[in-house]
Amino acid sequence: MILRLFIVITGVSAIEWDAPIPYDPVWLASVQKYPPIPSFNESRFWGWVGEKDVQFRLYTRRNPFEFQVLKINESSSLWDSNFDVRKKVKVLTHGWLNHGDSPMPESIREAYLNVSDLNIIVVDWGTAANVNYILASYNVAMVGRVLTQFLNFLIDEGVSMDDMHLIGHSLGAHVVGIAGAYVREGPIDTITGLDPALPLFTLSNKDARLDKHDARHVEVIHTCGGYLGFASPLGHIDFYPNGGTRQPGCGIDYRGLCAHNRAHMFFAESIISDVPFTANRCEDYDELYYTGRCEGTGETLIMGSLDIHYGKDGIYYLRTNAEKPFALGESQRTEEGNEILVVLAPPAK
Ligand SMILES: *[C@@H]1O[C@H](CO)[C@@H](O)[C@H](O)[C@H]1NC(C)=O
Ligand SMILES: *[C@@H]1O[C@H](CO)[C@@H](O)[C@H](O)[C@H]1NC(C)=O
Ligand SMILES: *[C@@H]1O[C@H](CO)[C@@H](O)[C@H](O)[C@H]1NC(C)=O
Repeated sequence: MILRLFIVITGVSAIEWDAPIPYDPVWLASVQKYPPIPSFNESRFWGWVGEKDVQFRLYTRRNPFEFQVLKINESSSLWDSNFDVRKKVKVLTHGWLNHGDSPMPESIREAYLNVSDLNIIVVDWGTAANVNYILASYNVAMVGRVLTQFLNFLIDEGVSMDDMHLIGHSLGAHVVGIAGAYVREGPIDTITGLDPALPLFTLSNKDARLDKHDARHVEVIHTCGGYLGFASPLGHIDFYPNGGTRQPGCGIDYRGLCAHNRAHMFFAESIISDVPFTANRCEDYDELYYTGRCEGTGETLIMGSLDIHYGKDGIYYLRTNAEKPFALGESQRTEEGNEILVVLAPPAK
């Protein structure tokens, strides 16, 4: 099925394409290790990504708006920049049809720099993300490899992965997952997946997507689960705002894009908000899925914010407002019986 769809979309039919099914971007990256270099126009059809298609943009409080470009294996690009090796590093990776100036990463970068003095590195893979979805998803593995090389370069320069936090939205969540899995001296401290993309990714193929082995601590926020994002838990901590599938304020949202983007809007708000996104812990995902309800265990956890929530592994549910500001504050248990209604998509196949 994937084959046929691919051919229809690109209009290229003369090329043999024996990708394994289910499709496997890591396999694709492996066979493309030494690709013939296609012309730019062809590359838009064939999901070919090189280092030049991925740019690493540094922002700090000394340059909050004008980025400095960091180059893999060029020490001077790092040490002549405002990069401060004593400060923590946040790497922001956008998803399909976005680029380095899109609302994700921009809103998250701005929020972090407003409240904290950090190194923010925005991964701009716009050229490879602005193609049809199938090709963009094929590009994910290769962009992930370029990011791995970049992280290996930082390790060579003395940056500790204990200070590293990778944040990715949609396809970008899988980019950071793959980068984390292959980094030379891991693990990466933390990965945050913002509604990791579902179409063409499977639960079974862990190597091709974000999973909890990609970092010491993996947190996921699900906002369009079962449609554009994964519904199933992928991390140590999985938050399901409003049940994780549909979002208030999004109307019919038949393509799911509104709900899909809520993940990064919630996250950006959580960094600067005085009002917390307090979530209630559920027994497990099965309970949420099979009963459509979640009886709070009594434990709560704040979604997002500046903190990393080590050791609080579990499934969490919360409600939000339908518009900004989204955070509702303290625990949202109902008065009688502590039962919380949720609506979930079927688990990802
Ligand atoms: C390549 O694409 C550009 C625009 O995307 C177009 O202007 C140009 O003619 C194309 N070149 C070839 C050789 O098809
Ligand atoms: C950077 O250096 C490493 C090891 O020295 C090498 O494996 C890698 O290919 C280099 N990458 C680039 C983009 O030069
Ligand atoms: C960050 O601070 C700037 C300058 O004070 C302000 O204009 C901007 O709205 C703030 N952004 C956020 C997300 O708080």
